Amino acid sequence: MKICVLPGDGIGPEIMAEAVRVLKALDLKLEMEEALLGGCAVDAAKDPFPEATQALAKAADAVLLGAVGGPQWDNNPRELRPERGLLRIRKDLGLFANLRPAILYPELANASTLKPEVVAGLDILIVRELTGDIYFGQPRGIELRDGERYGYNTMHYTESEIRRILRVAFDAARKRNRKVCSVDKMNVLECTQLWRDVATETAKEYPDVELSHMLVDNAAMQLVKNPKQFDVMVTGNMFGDILSDEASMLTGSIGMLPSASLDADNKGLYEPSHGSAPDIAGKGVANPLATILSAAMMLRYTFGNEESAQRIEAAVKKVLAQGLRTGDIYEPGTTRVGTREMGDAVLAAL
Ligand code: IPM
Ligand code: MG
Repeated sequence: MKICVLPGDGIGPEIMAEAVRVLKALDLKLEMEEALLGGCAVDAAKDPFPEATQALAKAADAVLLGAVGGPQWDNNPRELRPERGLLRIRKDLGLFANLRPAILYPELANASTLKPEVVAGLDILIVRELTGDIYFGQPRGIELRDGERYGYNTMHYTESEIRRILRVAFDAARKRNRKVCSVDKMNVLECTQLWRDVATETAKEYPDVELSHMLVDNAAMQLVKNPKQFDVMVTGNMFGDILSDEASMLTGSIGMLPSASLDADNKGLYEPSHGSAPDIAGKGVANPLATILSAAMMLRYTFGNEESAQRIEAAVKKVLAQGLRTGDIYEPGTTRVGTREMGDAVLAAL
């Protein structure tokens, strides 16, 4: 079981250190090797996804990533931005299926800005297509046309790209509440009319799963109005980027949410749903739980080790029940701890 570990930028190295400690404590035969991705790689190798990292990521069974990005690289040319490294590793490894669960832990019910009765027991899974859509569409650019600057991108999907991500969503729903909501903008965009048609066709392979369709603007509204109506939501890269941030905040704690990006053979890249939080980097206060839970997802999806995944998840629930909180989820009456102490507590609970 070879794991390519990419701590990345900002709080990445701090939260990754805790996830690695947790994995080591499980005594599985894991081989872990570190490499550079993102801003740190731009600084060291003038490339956000250097060749050494490409080789290691390709040879590994799974990639565990901290976070990339920071203000010091924001004005770099696009090719030398940390985010570009992330997009390239997704595309290169063919990680087309991004699973982003949004789960509200009962202990954190007050962390949400929504009324407790709206979010209590929330458990939704956003399935986002990750290697197509307007993110990767050609042609694209900014150029001079008729004496003024002109910016353009191209949204496109093939039916096979749509079908394979829909199948991931339906398969996931079979292990949950058997409901899939497919999100599109078919009233305006042809590309997403095709999405809707293919979703309807694919549903015929899954008579035991209920399919509904929703326009993306309505979906954004329904997510805050009545999020518990959803089980699995499936959508394209761009809409999924936006809706998954919205869904994560229903739980009030983006610092808690893991994610998985899978290829067709369950090789995967696992990362917290949050970013690199440059404002708190290096202070030892970041929440490592989303990265630790991402390691659990890795054991489940890539290595088929459900038992170890559940052990980690149970340990995380235990430290929350003990009242330990990093700053992002702190509330009066609980015990504020730093990154390392949170990692220590998870290790003790394991
Ligand atoms: C995400 C992020 C990335 C995306 C950025 C950093 C390129 O927002 O993983 O959701 O847009 O996919
Ligand atoms: Mg995003």
